[in-house]
Amino acid sequence: MYKRILETAEWLKARMTTQPETAIILGTGLGELAKEIDKEQVIPYTEIPHFPISTVEGHAGCLIFGKLGGKDILAMEGRFHYYEGYDMKQVTFPIRVMRELGIKTLFVSNAAGGTNPAFEIGDLMIITDQINFMPENPLRGANIPQGPRFPDMGHAYDPQLIQLADAIADENGIKVQHGVYLATQGPTYETPSEYRMFARWGADAVGMSTVPEVIVARHCGIRCFGISIITDLGGMEEVVLITHEDVQKAAAEAQPRMATIMGEMIARS
Ligand code: HPA
Repeated sequence: MYKRILETAEWLKARMTTQPETAIILGTGLGELAKEIDKEQVIPYTEIPHFPISTVEGHAGCLIFGKLGGKDILAMEGRFHYYEGYDMKQVTFPIRVMRELGIKTLFVSNAAGGTNPAFEIGDLMIITDQINFMPENPLRGANIPQGPRFPDMGHAYDPQLIQLADAIADENGIKVQHGVYLATQGPTYETPSEYRMFARWGADAVGMSTVPEVIVARHCGIRCFGISIITDLGGMEEVVLITHEDVQKAAAEAQPRMATIMGEMIARS
C-alpha cells in the first residue's frame, strides 16, 4: 500500500510545476470555487497511477494544480465515496498521496442533512468535530508509516482555522452554524428514527463523506477544516422526503457563500 502511495506521489512530483501546501476537496458546494482557480495543470484521475476513478453523478474526476487567493493549491475535483463501492483505502488514497506531496492543510466541503433543530436549509455549518459511523476505520490494518498507530483525534478540525472562518464569515455578513458532522456509509438518506438517534448522539449534521479523509489526514499530520451545507432537515416532527435534486439545489444556492469563506481562508491561512 505504502509503496503504491509513493509511486503515485513520485509520478505526480515529476509533473508538478508548483509546490502547494494547501489542498481542497471540491465536494458538493465548491464547484463555484473550482472556477476561481487559476489552473496550471489538470490531471484526470484516469491518468494517475493507482488512483481510483470517481463515478457518482455531479462529480468529475481530476487533480487540479493552480493558484487560488495568491496561493499554490492542489484541488481534488471529485472524491471517492464509500457508498460507491470503494474500500476505505481507496477512499483515502489521495490524502496519503497529498501528504507525500507536502500538503499541510486540507479544506473539505460536503452536503449534509441537519439534525440540529436550530438549523435551516441552506445554512453553512463549520465542522467542529466528527463522529465516524461508517463501518470501518480507514486506518485499520498494518500502520502506514506516515503517522502513529494510535493517532490522537482531539483536534480533528483545527481550532485556529475555525476561528479564522468565524472572523471571515463575520466580516462578510455570512451566517454560519457550528456543529458535529456524522458520517454514515449511505447511500440511503436516514429514516426519521435514525436522524433522531444521531441527534441524541450529539450529531448536528449527517452525511456520507469527509470523515475517512479527515481521519487519514490527521494520521498524516495534515490540519483540516470543513464546512457542511445543510441541504435538508431530518428528525423533526413531520417527515420530509429528500431527493438528490433537493440536495443539489440547496447546495447550489449556498455555493457563493461557501466560496467566499473558503477562498478567503486559503488566501489568509
Ligand atoms: N443524510 C445523509 N447524507 C446527506 C444528507 C442527509 O440527510 N443530505 C445530504 N447528504
